[in-house]
Amino acid sequence: MSRKPVIVFEGIEGSGKTHHLNKISKYLKKRKLSFIKIREPGGSLNSEKIRKLILNKKSNFNKNTDLLLYLASRSENINLLRKYYKKKIILIDRFIDSTIAYQHYGMGVNLDLINSINKHILSNFKVSFTFLNLVNHKNMVKRLRLRKSTNRYDNFKKNFYNKVQKGFVKLSNKNKRKYQIIDSNLDIKLNEKYVLKKIEKLIK
Ligand code: TMP
Repeated sequence: MSRKPVIVFEGIEGSGKTHHLNKISKYLKKRKLSFIKIREPGGSLNSEKIRKLILNKKSNFNKNTDLLLYLASRSENINLLRKYYKKKIILIDRFIDSTIAYQHYGMGVNLDLINSINKHILSNFKVSFTFLNLVNHKNMVKRLRLRKSTNRYDNFKKNFYNKVQKGFVKLSNKNKRKYQIIDSNLDIKLNEKYVLKKIEKLIK
């Protein structure tokens, strides 16, 4: 029987995480392996409602409200995540690391507060492996320009995204075994192969 890990794709805007996640979900479909795929903020019906509220360009919540909304969106996903935990492969487009990278390293929200609410919401739900996608500022801007629509979190200054990306790297350095860094400034096809090879090991 194949393993049913929880696999997360992280990275700043334009880092290619959603691209790789979509490739992997196509691959799993082709192999007829059962999996679920969600994004955060978003995923469940209620969580998607919260996503619209947070990312709407007309919203101007303060950083603590943002944190609580991201966590509210996670809280609305937990029943779905628990239902399939270890029963199906779970692919997640952003999760706990995004909250720490953006709200703590990017915006300076207290880390203990984030950790404590996350712990309360998730309890024993654990991520098995994370693909951390890195991108330089030039490529990030280039890719964002190609997007049909942008959201409230797509327009921060260069320094903010630098802090967030460094935050992601710090988190990955704490537990290197559970992370794979993808340098998305390199050839995308090569990176696809690299991700797939790791996925095959994770679900074997
Ligand atoms: P995305 O769906 O394009 O990745 O956009 C979601 C935005 O939300 C992105 O800028 C990162 C941000 N975000 C946080 O700031 N904290 C979080 O906990 C999560 C899940 C996302």
